[in-house]
Formats: sequence, structure tokens, C-alpha cells
Amino acid sequence: MKVMLFPGTFDPFTRGHRDIVRRASKLCDKLVVAIMENSAKTPLFTPDERVDLVRRSLAGEDLDNVEVMKWDGLLVDLYKQLGCCASVRGIRSESDFRYEAELALANRLLLPGYDAILLPCRDDMSLISSTIVKEVGSYGGDISKMVPAEIIDTVNDKFLKGRKQ
Ligand code: PNS
Repeated sequence: MKVMLFPGTFDPFTRGHRDIVRRASKLCDKLVVAIMENSAKTPLFTPDERVDLVRRSLAGEDLDNVEVMKWDGLLVDLYKQLGCCASVRGIRSESDFRYEAELALANRLLLPGYDAILLPCRDDMSLISSTIVKEVGSYGGDISKMVPAEIIDTVNDKFLKGRKQ
């Protein structure tokens, strides 16, 4: 069985992430979306909140071979544990490509045999990122074109709470 991993911070999950899930799920028998930590980032949403946002974003989709989980260790340890054949990551730009190439090389140093599939994003999603969602949302801007409809209210509630503090 071909298992692929889609790792990320997903803080929060975006329409761009969901598009990658849809496309990557067709390339393997099982796709595991893993909510992870990035030492360079301080997430706005807790790991459990992020898992919930991803699950709710995918609930209405016909994606029987997709699982969602959280993991706070090394990516390669989960990759090994799940018996993955590749990780999948979406890329929007040349700078994304450089970052992903470095990440893949570092992971391959840790685990020879590690591989990554880089999926170019859809052109209409090239400007969507979790960072932009947080920037726009924290000022009360419209994030409806960036995050799945199922989670807009929850994401906006978080920004509202942040503004009240
Ligand atoms: O969505 P992001 O923040 O670009 O995802 C980056 C992520 C979470 C995949 C990466 O930081 C990661 O793999 N974190 C887990 C720890 C790890 O294995 N780091 C890579 C070692 S080089």
C-alpha cells in the first residue's frame, strides 16, 4: 500500500492546502495529513484546534483515503513509522521551491530513502498562505477566499478574541 504524508503547520488550514490534499490523495492509497510544529513559528491555533480545522475542512469531501493526525516529533520518524513512500508539499513560488528542496535534503540526511513530491499550487491559489490569512484576519479583513467555508467562523472567532485582549 502506498502511503504518503502531507506534513505542515496548517496554522490555519487554507483552501490551498485543501487543494493539495485533493490532488495528493489521488496519487496514493492513503494520505496522512500531519499537523506538526515548526521551530521557526509560534502557531496561533493549538495542535488540537488545527486538527479540528483540517478535519472540518475535509469532512464534506469524498476523501476516504485521507487521515488527519498531530505529531510533535521529527517528520522522518513519522514517515518511517507510517511506512511512507513520499511526503507531499505544495509550492507556490521559487522561494518555496528552495525551502522545500532544503527540507527534503535535510530529511534525506536523517533518513536515506526519504523522498518528497512537490506539487505546484493552482494559479488562483498562489497568493494564499496561512501567514496572509493571519495578517488579513487579524485586522478584520475578509478571509473567505482563503480558508474553507466550513472553518471561516472559527478562524474569525480566534482573531476576534485576539483583538479583545
Ligand atoms: O507548514 P510549514 O511550517 O512549512 O511546515 C514545516 C514542517 C512542519 C513540515 C517542518 O518544520 C517539520 O518537518 N517539522 C517537524 C520537525 C522536523 O522534522 N523538522 C525538519 C528537520 S530538517
